[in-house]
Amino acid sequence: MGGTGANPDMLPREVLPGVYACADAAELARVAARRFVDWAWQSIAKDGNFSVALSGGSTPRDLYRLLASPEFRAQVDWPRLHLFWGDERAVPPESSESNYGMARRELLLRVPIPPSNVHRMEAEDPNIGRAAHNYEATLRQFLPLDDRGFPRFHLILLGLGPDGHTASLFPGSKLLRETSRWVSTPLVPKLGTRRMTLTLPVLEAARRVVFLVAGAEKAFILHEVLCERRDPPLPAQMVKPREGERLFLVDEAAAVKISSSQSRPIREGKS
Ligand code: 6PG
Repeated sequence: MGGTGANPDMLPREVLPGVYACADAAELARVAARRFVDWAWQSIAKDGNFSVALSGGSTPRDLYRLLASPEFRAQVDWPRLHLFWGDERAVPPESSESNYGMARRELLLRVPIPPSNVHRMEAEDPNIGRAAHNYEATLRQFLPLDDRGFPRFHLILLGLGPDGHTASLFPGSKLLRETSRWVSTPLVPKLGTRRMTLTLPVLEAARRVVFLVAGAEKAFILHEVLCERRDPPLPAQMVKPREGERLFLVDEAAAVKISSSQSRPIREGKS
């Protein structure tokens, strides 16, 4: 993954295969924004559109804010984008907990994307199962299917929780064994709440999955995910695009443990 070359100091360093460390969270956002623009143009040139599942949580906030800035906003052909979510909390859009609400404040209200191209998860629906079924219909309407019949995003952005969860796929969840549903609504015991989330087969159908991980508090779990074989595996370890690319864009604070010379990435396929 190269940068634009305009500012070589901005080039992140590849700490492990597919894992790029940026100096800090601000540079992480800039590198991610530059790559987002590149990927958008490549996808639009090839397929006429760019389909993205946005991540929730706090890490992507700086990226969304930067994409909405005059510098980057002008570089994206927004009417060609279709935005979705990887997961959502069972709260209304105006809630401070809403992943859609955060993206709306930081990005959607500031860029010329047609409202019909923004596909939020209606996880506040009292009948969340029906809302999940409706979301699957939306995915079917707007996305091509891969050879196994799962919807294929150009890009899925993901975060990493301190327990190794990603999207709303949490350790110990039976949802980690899901092989057919596209969208599910797990009850998350540790949170005492229900979520709506894309399932692993959909994450694995993507052309590109990018984890955004920042902060010293993520150093331990990032090392666990990338360098420690776990049985059962952590949810973030299970996201392996079948034909697509998996990248980690991290900051140096989160990379401090994987940067040590003793760190070796898990070698796939080894017993
Ligand atoms: C959510 C996210 C979740 C998040 C991680 C990291 O709805 O909270 O989907 O998977 O990405 O918990 O969150 P932070 O970016 O806030 O650390």
